[in-house]
Amino acid sequence: RAGASGIIVFNEGQPGRTESYPLDIGEWRAKVPMVFTDHAVGAELAAAGNPTVHLKVDSTLVLGKSDNVIAESRAGDPRDVVMVGAHLDSVPAGPGINDNGSGSAAILEVAEELSRFPVRNQVRFAFWAGEEVGLLGSDQYVESLSRRQRDRIRLYLNFDMVASPNYAYKLYDGDNSDNVGSPAGPAGSAQIEKQLEAFYDARSLPHNGTDFDGRSDYGAFIAAGIPAGGIFTGAEGIKTAEEAALFGGTAGAAYDACYHQACDTLNNINDTALDVNADAIADSTARFAFDLSGIPE
Ligand code: PHE
Ligand code: ZN
Ligand code: ZN
Ligand code: ZN
Repeated sequence: RAGASGIIVFNEGQPGRTESYPLDIGEWRAKVPMVFTDHAVGAELAAAGNPTVHLKVDSTLVLGKSDNVIAESRAGDPRDVVMVGAHLDSVPAGPGINDNGSGSAAILEVAEELSRFPVRNQVRFAFWAGEEVGLLGSDQYVESLSRRQRDRIRLYLNFDMVASPNYAYKLYDGDNSDNVGSPAGPAGSAQIEKQLEAFYDARSLPHNGTDFDGRSDYGAFIAAGIPAGGIFTGAEGIKTAEEAALFGGTAGAAYDACYHQACDTLNNINDTALDVNADAIADSTARFAFDLSGIPE
């Protein structure tokens, strides 16, 4: 419910819990037509006919209603959970195909494919709600975990905007080695970044680092001390000349000129970046699904 003050009450699972956002209610209303209960992803996972994926709908956003969709492998040790997430919502201005249909579609495909394998560690996929209105779904999810549940999540991989038209392969700078200015992540984050780097290196593909500052759904995880990492191909920022030399594309132009706009349609996807990054997501998820060495307990 939204009061005149702009206070949003959410989470029917925790009655009485409130969160306030510095939003004028008119502004909030303008943003909210997007909400978006998405059972379609759940249905697709179920329809993949895969016995090792089940669904659990988690969390509710009132004022419109929104759900995170969570799918986890039946196989794998539930004391060692590998979490993989992407936000499923978009801004109301447009369909959000790069932001973040790209990450959502990629992890959906990985979930369906990975469910055929007898993973050692449990793998849990999250399709987050409400990212664009303040990381609500992921934030609420992490806050809802007991200490024990939280401790069982060994790491979190985030995929938000992985097919920008003027892309760069940017890896969250978990080791603070890329001079982007954000602090290093929780121990283990460096290892995640290294493993992702190895994927691109093995294919002689360039990569660089990007802020690990909490501007997407991994924020709540690193705040809780859970190591995290992920891939990003750039948003409203401007591609440098050095990057254009490395990755191709256009220097001096935005990585995604349609960021948060109506033109973030299927035309706003770079097929090469989507293809490469979907493979990188599959590779990193599968490796961690079997081997967490280097990731602190
Ligand atoms: N979270 C931002 C959005 O959805 C995009 C973003 C992702 C920015 C990752 C920085 C790093 O609009
Ligand atoms: Zn966005
Ligand atoms: Zn996004
Ligand atoms: Zn780094």
